[in-house]
Amino acid sequence: MNRHNSLLRTPYAVRMSHWLMVICFFFVAMSGLSWFFPSLNWLNNLLGGPQLARILHPFMGMVIFLFLVFMFLRLVRYNLPEEGDGKWFANVGQVMGGKHVDELDTGKYNAGQKVLFWGIMGLIALLLISGVVIWRPYFAPLFSIPAIRIGLFVHALAGVLLMLLIIGHIYLAFWVRGSVDSMSSGYVSRKWARVHHPRWYRQVTGEAVKKDRP
Ligand code: HEM
Repeated sequence: MNRHNSLLRTPYAVRMSHWLMVICFFFVAMSGLSWFFPSLNWLNNLLGGPQLARILHPFMGMVIFLFLVFMFLRLVRYNLPEEGDGKWFANVGQVMGGKHVDELDTGKYNAGQKVLFWGIMGLIALLLISGVVIWRPYFAPLFSIPAIRIGLFVHALAGVLLMLLIIGHIYLAFWVRGSVDSMSSGYVSRKWARVHHPRWYRQVTGEAVKKDRP
């Protein structure tokens, strides 16, 4: 992409964290699924077989958590709720249909992306807490059997919900043409930024000074 005609949207460190985390997520999700149904047991071969998968799953889960903490710290300020988010939800049908509603004036991330952000962060926190409670042989002996049972239930539920959320995330990343550039090269075209995130566009180009001044 011609860099003169583009804007940096996602810095290198955030992109690296995202993709390293995605690789770990794939293996952790596949090994997790392998324990849901006997018919899916073969999936744990992706992590070297049942014993190795059982050992690696929680450690890789911790790596995912740490990358997400980094992403949280870098991105949280763009994902805080704002007054205009309600308007975005009210117009979600049009947005999904590819029609652009000018008065939405979306910032760096739209309200749907913010829901995804907080959903991922909330579910990973639940997975970490419940994962520690059920982590044999290190931590599980510190907890009672009923606590471990609850931990197993919460861990499985949060894992399934996170996988469903991520399926939606991947679908939307490809549905909105040009989005993947934001996480691959890090740059998006000025036109893409103006159309999808006009307020962010004005902020980074400095046009905000002219337009937003009362
Ligand atoms: C093939 C898989 C994936 C693809 C293609 C993908 C694509 C993307 C893209 C394009 C963005 C940037 C959107 C923008 O700048 O507007 C993004 C952001 C993000 N992705 Fe992914 N992603 C994938 C998997 C994952 C997974 C597995 C997770 C977490 C478990 C994840 C967590 C995030 C987070 C937290 C953000 C920041 C969103 C925000 O700040 O609102 N992604 N992803």
